[in-house]
Amino acid sequence: MAENLLVSSSSSKTEKYIQLLPQLQALTANEVDIVANLANISAALKETFNWWWVGFYLVKGDELVLGPFQGPIACTRIRYGKGVCGTAWKEKKSILVPDVNAFPGHIACSSASVSEIVTPILNKSGEVAGVLDVDSERYDILDDTDVRFLEEISKICSKFL
Ligand code: SME
Repeated sequence: MAENLLVSSSSSKTEKYIQLLPQLQALTANEVDIVANLANISAALKETFNWWWVGFYLVKGDELVLGPFQGPIACTRIRYGKGVCGTAWKEKKSILVPDVNAFPGHIACSSASVSEIVTPILNKSGEVAGVLDVDSERYDILDDTDVRFLEEISKICSKFL
């Protein structure tokens, strides 16, 4: 059963993630439906950090297709190796982009978004099944701490993807 998220708004970023992680784990532990779980995780991240955009793209054939997200409407399909998302898929690693203008091939779903992090999510076979994408309208918000904890959240997603 869903409950309220308990994250102290006065906490540091690291403390917020530490409070959030076990709650995401618990929220998804007894639910097998992928859309339901990704929807709740994107809502929890938006509620906690209020980023411009946060959500998921899922691998379907040779494309990423838009999944559950929070924020403005977004591009629906991204090809393998394209943009930050397609590159994170291809390289199978997280990509922190402090300034999207400095990332050749960045796909601008929203002109308000100026920095982003994309983290791949692996399935049980170790293949990329999707990506977690966080976009900010600020240059000074996203950093290596976010990368580290978003990778932990990706591991939670790996359990049901
Ligand atoms: N900027 C991403 C596209 C997805 S949107 O930001 C939601 C990219 O370059 O892959």
